[in-house]
Amino acid sequence: PMAPNGCPVSAQAAAFDPFDSPYQLDPAEALRWSREQEPVFYSPRLGYWVVSRYADIKTIFRDNLTFSPSIALEKITPASREAQAVLERYDYGMNRTLVNEDEPAHMARRRELLEAFTPEALEAHAPMVRRLVREKLDAIVERGRADLVAEMFWEVPLTVALHFLGVPEEDMEQLRRFSVAHTLNTWGRPSPEQQVEVAEGVGKFWQYSGQVLKKMQDQPHGHGWMYDMIEKNRQKPDVVTDNYLHSMMMAIIVAAHETTALATANAFRQLLSRPAVWAELCANPELIPAAAEECLRHSGSVVAWRRIATREVEVGGVTIPEGGKILMVTASGNHDPAHFENPDELDIYRDNAVDHLTFGYGSHQCMGKNLGRMEMRIFLEEFTRRLPHLELEEQEFTFLPNTSFRGPEALWVRWDPAQNPERRDP
Ligand code: HEM
Repeated sequence: PMAPNGCPVSAQAAAFDPFDSPYQLDPAEALRWSREQEPVFYSPRLGYWVVSRYADIKTIFRDNLTFSPSIALEKITPASREAQAVLERYDYGMNRTLVNEDEPAHMARRRELLEAFTPEALEAHAPMVRRLVREKLDAIVERGRADLVAEMFWEVPLTVALHFLGVPEEDMEQLRRFSVAHTLNTWGRPSPEQQVEVAEGVGKFWQYSGQVLKKMQDQPHGHGWMYDMIEKNRQKPDVVTDNYLHSMMMAIIVAAHETTALATANAFRQLLSRPAVWAELCANPELIPAAAEECLRHSGSVVAWRRIATREVEVGGVTIPEGGKILMVTASGNHDPAHFENPDELDIYRDNAVDHLTFGYGSHQCMGKNLGRMEMRIFLEEFTRRLPHLELEEQEFTFLPNTSFRGPEALWVRWDPAQNPERRDP
């Protein structure tokens, strides 16, 4: 086969499929061959140019005019005709938010919406996060065994996200199902039958977002980032537009909670599978922020992100034509030995872990990164203090099949409640 630039496609590039198990189980490992031999290649199965080295990914992130983020939320598997019809029935109109908006609209909007992310504004949420984590821990601490994903890694970040946004905390279970549908719809490869089911979920999510937004607009004195947007929409409707409000309402719930939930699950999995490292954190909790950062590098919850070339451009020696769609495998960049020494090792003392690409880079870099970090830190602080004898159970991990969001669907741990420090020293 030939790539759109006229070059032949190598056998490995032709075989690459992000929905196959090697990528699903470990995307960085699945692209080791590419990092070593063919760092930019065309994937005929995906119809994307795949970029796997740290420096090339950073070059792309840095130039959002040549490499537009407009396709960041596009369906990676086009909708079937039936699914399309379902979406139309729900009047589905998800369009630009921030993450997929071009300049100059993006920066104008981003600048209007920064206030909620100042260090003081974020710090004000810390007591709430701690209270939520403590309540969830209280519920299981005497039990001896738990699936932490089901018990709290989903619900706490979702509650925090809704609180941060000012969205009423109702229908949490439904919101979680909606999020899964949105992830599969955007980054998955649903079968033709699944497509219709997923489209139903996404259509309902769109309608639901509109209703919640309407309710919030009718009570304009609430607090939270969505209220900031509603207010800016009133003051500057050309910058913070109506469609933006509705699209953002749907996208942000996923952006703010799923990412953090999965990142926390990945971090606990990595740390607990290295008992010596876990013991070190229990003995020296001041190492927790660095450990969380290293987990975001080693096993981040976002593993790939997209751009589209607005002109013909060379990346890593390969010519990508205008209109070429690009999948940057950030998880692979995070394991690039050209930037990280012994990249496959989890090293909580690594001095450049913070250079990782899990939050993206450049003008679109994640606005919520410090909120996500804070949640991970508080989870780790509470667990290392109250359950230092926590152990990972032997288990097979499963993942929601998609290109970009990664974390185990369950995380089973066990401990002996008789050894709980608080029994000795309540
Ligand atoms: C953008 C990851 C948590 C809000 C992004 C991007 C990534 C990302 C990869 C795209 C960056 C780019 O294009 O350069 C993550 C991860 C998180 C996390 C791994 C948790 C561990 C959050 C939270 C919030 C949030 C908690 C909300 C409050 C946003 C927003 C953008 C964004 C608003 C768009 C920024 C822009 O385009 O200007 N995030 N995110 N994220 N994230 Fe996060």
